[in-house]
Amino acid sequence: MIEHQIAVIAGDGIGPEVTREALKVVDAAAEIWGFRVRRTEYPFGTEHYLATKEIFPDAAFSEVKQKDAIYLGAIGDPRVPVGLIEYGIIAKCRFDLDLYVNLRPIKLYDESLCPLKDKKPEHVDMVIVRENTEDAYSGSHGFTHKGHDTEVAVQTMVYTRHGVERVIRYGFELARKRPRKQLTLIDKANAVRAQDLWTRTFADVAKEFPDIKTDHAYIDAACMWMVKNPEWFDVAVTTNLFGDIITDLGAMVQGGMGIAASGNLNPGKVSLFEPIHGSAPKYAGKNVSSPVAAILAGAMMLDYLGQKAASVAIENVVADLLRTRRLKGVHTGAHNTQEVGDMVVAELRQRAAATV
Ligand code: IPM
Ligand code: MG
Repeated sequence: MIEHQIAVIAGDGIGPEVTREALKVVDAAAEIWGFRVRRTEYPFGTEHYLATKEIFPDAAFSEVKQKDAIYLGAIGDPRVPVGLIEYGIIAKCRFDLDLYVNLRPIKLYDESLCPLKDKKPEHVDMVIVRENTEDAYSGSHGFTHKGHDTEVAVQTMVYTRHGVERVIRYGFELARKRPRKQLTLIDKANAVRAQDLWTRTFADVAKEFPDIKTDHAYIDAACMWMVKNPEWFDVAVTTNLFGDIITDLGAMVQGGMGIAASGNLNPGKVSLFEPIHGSAPKYAGKNVSSPVAAILAGAMMLDYLGQKAASVAIENVVADLLRTRRLKGVHTGAHNTQEVGDMVVAELRQRAAATV
């Protein structure tokens, strides 16, 4: 029986409770489709840091590197300095494992979930390919005359030909696998002139993909189109920072942070899967957060691990539960976190039993 080794970092806030449901679904899928998932759980996150001063020790990081995938719940907590745990865990994985693609599908499963007027599932079905290792996230920063009224703060946006080209190429390849075969470049090259590298690289790589329709939007306009005409997007590739921002907007268009999942990929190597939402400390431990994003991140992980049938089945179950309104949107109070996980598992098992 094939065995997949995964590292689990449930993290902070609502991370542990949504992770529990996601893994429950992954385990049920493993049982149904006959594969094994061996998990190693790591306690890293704010509690662990406060208790031990340890963020992500080297020994554990070397271990995690050997796994097939990493599943992350959520991190972030107001009790520690801003960015400390974020850079120590998530950014560390993204940079040190070179997870250069942040894949963020935006798909509307049911009309009722969309805050936009007259937008239906056929209008919202795109994938944002967010560059994940460069830009303002990896640039150096500093402050001079800190605390004085002459203070200067600087942070550089860094783009390399290598970094830009590989993520653009990934975008083209992904577009080729989808029926519409369209790739939009989203940047702000009219103001951030360094992004001219994106413009030129996109044009160069496009020559290798004559079958892909290309398009371009500046990030400000892309935000407008995302709300006005989300149906214009199929696959879109963008910088790290703009990708961060537009995918939160996209998450709302698809029904909220409780639905949006992501994969941080170094194709062919250990990759990390997580819901896009944060740790939502005020809801921690209350069993009221939607685990749907976490469950869909689990499905993306299974797809990456080669368990396509299981992945598609989980997504279909979630989609059908939402479509038939058995599963209500986030924070309606209709179901608690655990019940949602149970519903998905029950439906998966029922469908599997019906097909034997
Ligand atoms: C995300 C998050 C992170 C980011 C934070 C936690 C650093 O917002 O994954 O979208 O900005 O990339
Ligand atoms: Mg974000």
